[in-house]
Amino acid sequence: MTETAAPPPAKLIAFEGGEGTGKSTQAARLAERLGARFTFEPGDTPIGQQLRRVLLDPEAGEGMHPRAEALLMAADRAQHVAEVVRPCLEAGQHVVTDRYLGSSLVYQGLGRGLGVDEVWALSRFATDSLEADVVVLLEVPPAVQADRLDRDLDRLERAGDDFHERVRTGFGELAERFGWVVVDGVGSIDEVEARVWAAIEDELA
Ligand code: TMP
Repeated sequence: MTETAAPPPAKLIAFEGGEGTGKSTQAARLAERLGARFTFEPGDTPIGQQLRRVLLDPEAGEGMHPRAEALLMAADRAQHVAEVVRPCLEAGQHVVTDRYLGSSLVYQGLGRGLGVDEVWALSRFATDSLEADVVVLLEVPPAVQADRLDRDLDRLERAGDDFHERVRTGFGELAERFGWVVVDGVGSIDEVEARVWAAIEDELA
């Protein structure tokens, strides 16, 4: 009798990048291709929806303290991992998330200046140490990002040029430090999808 090989363990794939990079579209495309659960942060649980409202409400302006912002993002992540991500992985389904802890490292760690290591520790607590297997960073030039953002801006999108410059350069720095897969996000949706697939296909085998 031949032994049946165990199915490959389900993988967690995270898309990261600034606003207007097309990562939500690409995350959804990849999830469809893999038959994976598509999910996102912040806000893909009932509790997360409430946290997202507080986090992005423009009325809150700059009144929210950076540490409060980091803790609320971490609270959303804790709920997201417990309620959505871990159960799917344990059931053998791949998960593709539009943003994960990399966003906290960049926006709160570097953008708000709280420090990458401190925010990492907070996220490790939130996720009970569940890291993404593959992190895809979509990069597009600032002019393309601005063109794609033709709607009312939320609280973080209004956070100012210096903050956004730290976020923009921060993504590149952390991609190098942590070995994220960097993909050029300029082009049609189909072109970028093909690029993403070519870049990560082997890691998913
Ligand atoms: P979204 O526009 O991709 O839905 O993300 C909402 C905003 O939340 C976006 O400006 C990035 C920000 N964000 C953080 O600052 N830290 C985080 O950990 C996450 C997940 C998102």
